Order: sequence, then C-alpha cells, then structure tokens
Amino acid sequence: MSEPLRAVVFDLDGVITDTAEQHYLGWQRLADEEGLPFDREANESLRGLSRRESLLALLGDREVDEATLEEWMTRKNDYYVASLADMSPADALPGAVELVDDAKARSLRVAIGSSSRNARLVLDKLQLTEAFDAIADGNSVERAKPAPDLFLEAARLLDVAPQACVVVEDATSGVDAALAAGMVAVGVGPQDRVGHATFRFDTPADVDLDVVLAGGTA
Ligand code: G6P
Ligand code: MG
Repeated sequence: MSEPLRAVVFDLDGVITDTAEQHYLGWQRLADEEGLPFDREANESLRGLSRRESLLALLGDREVDEATLEEWMTRKNDYYVASLADMSPADALPGAVELVDDAKARSLRVAIGSSSRNARLVLDKLQLTEAFDAIADGNSVERAKPAPDLFLEAARLLDVAPQACVVVEDATSGVDAALAAGMVAVGVGPQDRVGHATFRFDTPADVDLDVVLAGGTA
C-alpha cells in the first residue's frame, strides 16, 4: 500500500448499529400501506441510499407526484424515528465500539460517513457522538452514495488525504462510494453485497485492522 493509512470512516447504519433493519421495517410498512410490492430481498439494494433515492428505487416504474413523494418520505421517517425511541448504547453492534477504539488506539482518526439525516440522533442515542473526530451525514452533501462526496467530506473534515482513509461499509452503494473516493473499502456482509470491497469480513466484530493496515488478504 503506497500511502500509510491515517483514518477510518465508518458507515453508521449496518456497521455501528443495526438500524439497517429499522430502515427496512419503515419502508416495508409504507409499502404495505400503499400496496407497493416490496420485501426484504428488494430492500437489499436500498442499503446506503438516501431517503429519496430509496423511495425512488422502491417505486420502480410507478410515477407519483412530488407532494406524494414528500408525504411518503415523511411517513417512513416518522416510523423510523419512532422505532429509535428505546435505542441505547446496548444497541451498538457486537464489536463495533471495540473496532472504533482499536482504530483510535492505533492513532488513526475516526469519522462517521452516513447517508442518514438521522445520524446524529442515532449517535446520541448510542452515546457515541463524542467518540468520533468528525461526522459527515445526509445533511453534509448533495450527492448521496454511491457518489464519493460524503466520504470525501469526511476526509476533508479530518484533514486527511482520501488515499489515506479506510471506509467500513455494509452496503453495495457505500463500497462503490468508498472506491470512487480512492479509499480502501472494508465491506462487512455477504460476498454478493460487498464482495467488491478491498477487504471483506462477515460482521463488524470480524474486522481485523492488522490485515487491513498491512494491506494483506482477509
Ligand atoms: C442510511 C441507510 C439507508 C437510509 C439512509 C437515509 O445510510 O443505510 O437505508 O435510507 O441512510 O437515512 P435517513 O435517516 O436520512 O432517512
Ligand atoms: Mg449502512
């Protein structure tokens, strides 16, 4: 690896905590109420996408006016935010906080790079806001993943070159965004979702920074 790695940018939903499931349940409830075809499998392609891109992907060819789009996004978000009411630090995914601490113990800077406009709310619930040196979220940039913008913004906030950043991601679109940003991509999840990452591990608890920093094979 030519550039020494200096920072780790963590996706939030599906990496630090399992809110990927709550996003899914919110979309599923909206889809059921509106008679839109949707299921867990269809949800896989929504991972990491912004709220609007998620709804457009869910709609497929079906055309709806802007007011309806807005109302449906608001309704799904209300379901999602309500589902966070009881969230606590116990809802961090196994190994996630340890992974952040491991990165910091190696003098790496750490940031959040999440498409979610609710990222700060979730981090507050997990009592992890202070754990990160920078937070780039759905309010930070115009173009959502798979565009590289969000991760480039995280690198800018950290004052670290993109090539010196590692991204930890659970979504196809997130791995695409990390690679487009010129960063090392660590995928957590199955081969068919994140197999194109530089490294792949099954879960956050399996991520081995020794392997990533050495540039070896997982
Ligand atoms: C995350 C999730 C997506 C979600 C997106 C927007 O990255 O992986 O499933 O749609 O953020 O979240 P928001 O909370 O702004 O609706
Ligand atoms: Mg994610």
